[in-house]
Amino acid sequence: MEQNFITLSETTQTFHLHNNEISYIIKIEEDGVLNHLYFGKAMKHYSGHKTYPRRDRGFSGNVPGNLERAYSKDTLPQEYSTHGSMDYRLPATIIRRENGSNLHDFRYFDYQIKTGKPKLEGLPQAYVMAEKEATTLIVVLKDRLQEIYLNLTYTIYHERPIITRSVSVVNQTDESITLEKIASLQLDFRNDGHYDEVISLPGAHLKERQISREKIHGGIQNFESRRGASSHHMNSFIALVNHNTTEFSGPAIGMHFVYSGNHAFQLEKDQIEQLRVLVGINDYNFSWLLAANESFQTPEVILAYSDQGLNKMSSTLHHLLRERVARGEHQYKERPILVNNWEATYFDFDSKKIEEIVDEAAALGIEMFVLDDGWFGHRDSDNSSLGDWFEYEGKLKEGLKGIADYVHKKGLQFGLWFEPEMISLDSKLYQKHPDYLMQEPNRTPSSSRDQHLLDMGRKEVRQNIEQQICAILDEVEIDYIKWDMNRSLSDVYSLALSERRQGEASHRHILGVYELIENLITRYPKILWEGCSGGGGRFDAGFLYYMPQSWPTDNTDAVERLKIQYGTSLAYPISSMTAHVSAVPNHQTGRITSLKTRGDVAMSGVFGYELDLTELSEEEKLIVKEQVDYYQKIRPLIQFGEFYRLNSPFEGNLTAWMFVSCDQAEAVVLMARTLANAQPVFHEVFLTGLDKNACYEEQITKQRYFGDELMNLGVNVPDFYGDFQTTFIHLKKV
Ligand code: DGJ
Repeated sequence: MEQNFITLSETTQTFHLHNNEISYIIKIEEDGVLNHLYFGKAMKHYSGHKTYPRRDRGFSGNVPGNLERAYSKDTLPQEYSTHGSMDYRLPATIIRRENGSNLHDFRYFDYQIKTGKPKLEGLPQAYVMAEKEATTLIVVLKDRLQEIYLNLTYTIYHERPIITRSVSVVNQTDESITLEKIASLQLDFRNDGHYDEVISLPGAHLKERQISREKIHGGIQNFESRRGASSHHMNSFIALVNHNTTEFSGPAIGMHFVYSGNHAFQLEKDQIEQLRVLVGINDYNFSWLLAANESFQTPEVILAYSDQGLNKMSSTLHHLLRERVARGEHQYKERPILVNNWEATYFDFDSKKIEEIVDEAAALGIEMFVLDDGWFGHRDSDNSSLGDWFEYEGKLKEGLKGIADYVHKKGLQFGLWFEPEMISLDSKLYQKHPDYLMQEPNRTPSSSRDQHLLDMGRKEVRQNIEQQICAILDEVEIDYIKWDMNRSLSDVYSLALSERRQGEASHRHILGVYELIENLITRYPKILWEGCSGGGGRFDAGFLYYMPQSWPTDNTDAVERLKIQYGTSLAYPISSMTAHVSAVPNHQTGRITSLKTRGDVAMSGVFGYELDLTELSEEEKLIVKEQVDYYQKIRPLIQFGEFYRLNSPFEGNLTAWMFVSCDQAEAVVLMARTLANAQPVFHEVFLTGLDKNACYEEQITKQRYFGDELMNLGVNVPDFYGDFQTTFIHLKKV
């Protein structure tokens, strides 16, 4: 049967998903075992001759029911594996039945091809604007013994090198089953040497998304979070690459897990050097009881293929996340330049101080003021009031509304900070509802930043918080919200769940957070929402579905930011990455950098300030004014242009990246030299993405260059003097 973009060949028993850039081939092997044949560069045709070879290997037993010794699930690349039929590699799913057995053997049962992309209820996801943008294949597998079905869902975007995948389990037995593990994706490769390295984004608070590239070795490699959030420590993204893959050449597969809770990316290189990749909800502290006739839907994985290195992979992901994951009124809107009072005042502010900052911001052309932590309950430090989302009476003379009105009268927008998933023991909410806190009864829960988690899996808890937030938003005119989350999950136990269901608590918590946010963004569509989790602890594709931008890190040091922004750009678009100029010595590192350097690095993201503007000298104010004016000019290019990484801060002293407008008429290049040295070598940077036949004029020097010249001959890095120097090159087509 011939369908656009997805073909089923009856003769070769293969499904072929294809567009002009990619192909994905699945074969229904003998006895209905689902064999993964190919994912990579587009092929128009598959004759059926090249199949997976067979060989009798010791201790790799046969496919159940088939005596062919050379046919084993232990080596066959598969689409989805399970425990219990002699595949000893990591399984994609483990399902336990009432009789205690976890033995299953899933075989091909049926399939469906649909135009468009089915919606995943209650989960973040990539979407389509029109049915004709994508086609979806659902392959149904059934256990040989039990009425348990797996729906493997594959959506191919017609015009993008992107496939999304997810899985649902349907229990049609007449008893409960327990999912002990349920991956969203399995991708098995033969040992063709294509993918022998993996790039991940590990880090820590203040040091998020550092690029780590390592060999894929024999045995198991795990990239995971067990903190209940996607985490600062290991981002929910990996890329598979070849050791020859560079920014501009070689194969790369980027994988985003579209989820904000515990995740696991597991790699296993097997006995014959084949690679298995599993991506899904971490099975750590997870299980899910599925009653008869119930089903479970996993979050989805986005796969992006590039045959032109990492920049092309990133560009594919930037476009998809910006155009088909982010939603809402602000998706394509230029984001306002803001000043946030956090590093300016911390908790110590009053109306006078805020108004002074706002006055200064207005004079400098800044477009929004954000009131951060400390405006609610009786919060003067981080040990009280979370959960009390009513204003701190008396802290602001005319109240929150007074400040909002003041800001608006000055011509700025007004933003406000919330941390809705948390509760302080010192709060009215805790006095009234101590049971809302996530904890096992009678066990003292672990405290972190003197705060605890609300059990967002419970409806009444979500409703309480939602009502409080709505009361504020209905009364005060608010243009932007920063949604923070300042600790990892612990004491994961829910009073709403029976003892057999406690393994569901952390996933239900995330689903609850998603539901609460969905309600709020639907009710207040005009508000610009920004995600945050002590900086970048929840910078993931899942959260981007609800909020188009996120605070990538609490580290505002310009030099450290080079690495964080560079690493983040591997997987996330620039429009999602906020970046602020803060005071020196920097509050996180103590480093002193010039206002120019801080400005240049922050202008490479969604720009803002986070310092006490009233403390700037007249000379500094002039620089700020220039930065604001300049950013307003380049903002569309920065936030929505093509972004390219040129020189990596992880590999040397020189960082370079650039932004090119979609029509190639304008480009901005940032070059940053970290440490000075005597007798420096002369460096050059090779630009990219320009129109090779066009003539470009550099906006400051007024020198003219041709596109091919800038890309092939390159440009000289200036003879910087001193540490932490940066410069912009701004090119416009003449
Ligand atoms: C952590 C955030 O990342 C900071 O920007 C700030 O909002 C603080 N929380 C406030 O408590």
